[in-house]
Amino acid sequence: MSTTSTGHSTEAEAVAPAAASAPAASTSRGADPLLRATDLVKEFAVPGTGGLLGRADTFRAVDGVSLEVRARETLALVGESGSGKSTTARIVARLMDATSGEIVFDGEPVTHAKGERLRRFRSDVQVVFQDPYSSLNPRHTVERIVTAPLLYQGRQVPGGTRAFTQQLMERVGLDPDHHRRYPSQFSGGQAQRIGIARALAVSPRLVVCDEAVSALDVSVQAQIINLLRRLQREEGFSYLFIAHDLAVVRQIADRVAVMSKGRIVEQGERDAVFDDPQHEYTRTLLSAVPRIRPEWERARREAAAARAASGHAEETAKQTEEETT
Ligand SMILES: Nc1ncnc2c1ncn2[C@@H]1O[C@H](COP(=O)(O)OP(=O)(O)O)[C@@H](O)[C@H]1O
Ligand SMILES: [Mg+2]
Repeated sequence: MSTTSTGHSTEAEAVAPAAASAPAASTSRGADPLLRATDLVKEFAVPGTGGLLGRADTFRAVDGVSLEVRARETLALVGESGSGKSTTARIVARLMDATSGEIVFDGEPVTHAKGERLRRFRSDVQVVFQDPYSSLNPRHTVERIVTAPLLYQGRQVPGGTRAFTQQLMERVGLDPDHHRRYPSQFSGGQAQRIGIARALAVSPRLVVCDEAVSALDVSVQAQIINLLRRLQREEGFSYLFIAHDLAVVRQIADRVAVMSKGRIVEQGERDAVFDDPQHEYTRTLLSAVPRIRPEWERARREAAAARAASGHAEETAKQTEEETT
């Protein structure tokens, strides 16, 4: 890609706040990344220590993590369970404060943003979690779930909540007639599509997927990954895509950062990391998974054939007929 520039952000300060309706990525400035996190540290108290006599012992779940996500790209964060991926994601999305470190989003420091700035940031950065049933309110309809972020932003729902919801449902491959249903009335893959629709509703610029496909069956995983890729092509947002499954990562990542014990031990272009891992830990991770899964290959061949046959519309149609059983 382009060479890295260390230029200062004098021009950034002169830019007026972007209009709320600006398309994703349209305000990205030159070679600056969309998101830059520098030296993030998160310490947690060790349970059972501290108390009346002194300070609790702490351990570092995140220990000096720096990463960049560029406009329109997918950075995958991989590593075994407990390596600090989710904590990093929560800090980056400002769902949790870091002990130290800095976050810059689109040229603007957001580490300690509050009030209106924090609200704007939280709309620009959306999170899709692993378990859709626990991240979607079980007592709310799809319509209420996907319009809530807009209403929280104090924004109008374009075209009214019902039409807006139905359009979004179509875009993520759900039956728009189901807009009054509750999360429990959908399969796991369908419920995850609701979570994705909710993220899309506010036209985010960065979508953080924390193990968003990890709980799904392998064939459903492939469909959701195809959906995520199509939406990225259409919307131009970036992903910070967290997964412990490297077969999944290979399908979606442009670049890969490998985490172990709270640190990033290796970072690079996807193929470089997969084909020529530099770090012993990465080699161990890679050796634990089959290189290619037949389901992935089949899904990829079918998608390519559909595209070749009649272009993009075909793939969209295919999306909507998935999971109808
Ligand atoms: N809120 C918390 N309080 C205490 N320890 C935590 C908390 N959240 C995560 N941890 C610990 O931090 C480490 C990293 O966790 P996490 O970021 O969830 O890893 P990963 O997502 O890679 O599996 C783990 O040892 C976990 O137990
Ligand atoms: Mg996690």
